[in-house]
Amino acid sequence: MNKTYYFNWTSFLIGFLVIFSANAQTNQLIVNTDQSGPVISRHIYGHFAEHLGRNIYGGIWVGPDSDIPNEDGYRLDVMNAIKALEIPNLRWPGGCFADEYHWTDGIGDPKERPMMINTHWGGVVEDNSFGTHEFLNFTKKIGAEPYITGNVGSGSVEEMSKWIEYINFDGVSPMANLRKKNGQEEPWNIKYWGVGNENWGCGGNMTAEYYANEYKRYATYARDYGANKLYKIAGGANSFDYNWTEVLMKNIPLDMMDGLSIHYYTVTGTWQNKTSATDFDKATYLVTLKKAARLEELIVRHGAIMDQYDPEKKVGIIFDEWGTWFDVEPGTNPGFLYQQNTLRDAFVAAMSLNIFNNHADRVHMANLAQTVNVLQAIILTDDKDMILTPTYHVFDLYKPHKDALLLSHHLTSEDVSIGNETMKALNVSSSKSADGTVNISIANINPDKKIDLDVLLRGMDPKSVTAKIITAPEINSYNSFEKKEVVKTAEFKDFKLSKESLNISVPAKSIIMVRVK
Ligand code: AHR
Repeated sequence: MNKTYYFNWTSFLIGFLVIFSANAQTNQLIVNTDQSGPVISRHIYGHFAEHLGRNIYGGIWVGPDSDIPNEDGYRLDVMNAIKALEIPNLRWPGGCFADEYHWTDGIGDPKERPMMINTHWGGVVEDNSFGTHEFLNFTKKIGAEPYITGNVGSGSVEEMSKWIEYINFDGVSPMANLRKKNGQEEPWNIKYWGVGNENWGCGGNMTAEYYANEYKRYATYARDYGANKLYKIAGGANSFDYNWTEVLMKNIPLDMMDGLSIHYYTVTGTWQNKTSATDFDKATYLVTLKKAARLEELIVRHGAIMDQYDPEKKVGIIFDEWGTWFDVEPGTNPGFLYQQNTLRDAFVAAMSLNIFNNHADRVHMANLAQTVNVLQAIILTDDKDMILTPTYHVFDLYKPHKDALLLSHHLTSEDVSIGNETMKALNVSSSKSADGTVNISIANINPDKKIDLDVLLRGMDPKSVTAKIITAPEINSYNSFEKKEVVKTAEFKDFKLSKESLNISVPAKSIIMVRVK
């Protein structure tokens, strides 16, 4: 009897200690610096510029006669800002626009180019003054690889095949001769080609089975010229449509497809009421971040299907459209998709990039939608004026991850709960640069609480640490044309380094990049 009583008392004590320690949870990050994974492709940090709203016209391109300072028609402020970001690739011309774009309308003397109506986006006149040459000269100036999406929805196999010949063939052929006549002697040797866009919807309303067959026809005549081996990207699923992935993986031979696209937008409300980009409370903020975090689920579930057909992960998941989609700014053209960008968008970017990094074995490319003045833009313009958004600063902060080796980590994080939502307060990815520097990006999404994080750098003898931070007074702080630097990057020093470990006081609502040597 006595013995039983003694035993229960001990269990009670143990139980008490377990509960106590769970409440006083230590936030800990173990980074295995000696166990590197795959390379985090720099192409995960790609962007997307569609003929939509003031993205191309007024954003990237103003034309050589504009009084906005420009170089050969490209606005200088925007071009220099994009160049400084060292973006690895730029996707063009759409989006939905790609499947109604006929490339021959956008070559030759600009004055002779036909006009069309951009029926998808605002019903405005498209004068085709920004075409193939203007796009490819732009990507050259900013040092990015072009990623071109062909027209499957309203185009033809011949049209796409000839576009590739026009751009890539180095010899005598009708299309190569036409390119030379239009002033470009050398082929551009473009690697990345998308075979249509959202072919389940605006790209032709096809079934997965029909598209898989179409893909094979288009891909067959998408030729490699010379040493340039094309990287062909199949139009993939609408977010959670796993059947689309299953059908494509089953029907398209692995040697005909290099990438499979998936589009995922973080829509906070419904498609009818997407809610305001700037006017939101903390509960809505967490709803947005919880939805953004579903990227992880998409990678795991589409990836599991792909693994069955492609266990060596040859075919990459290409998130060639991702980001936030809110209601347009009041008073702006609903077809132009112009939205402001707050610290909340910075968190969506930081978390998404961490997720892509952590799945670098399968995610080979991603393109934020979209570059200038559209959706989760990195740059906003107002006539001659320009601002960098919080999202721009995240891409700048995360630069060290590009082409670095992914490091495995184990994170223990406390939760943050607001309204009906609960999620982990911390979100992390880590990598090792070629010179051995360990890069750790940390987002503390808790809007109110600083978190003390113990970082254990397994297999490393750290000597020095530098860190940068993005934060702002409020979760809905943003950069406006009147106050351009409300959200920006600053030096961060609130950490202590000792032996193998590093203690970081991660401020509430902040994103940090720590670099350890
Ligand atoms: O990025 C805006 C649009 O969203 C794209 O044109 C389309 O592909 C997607 O539905």
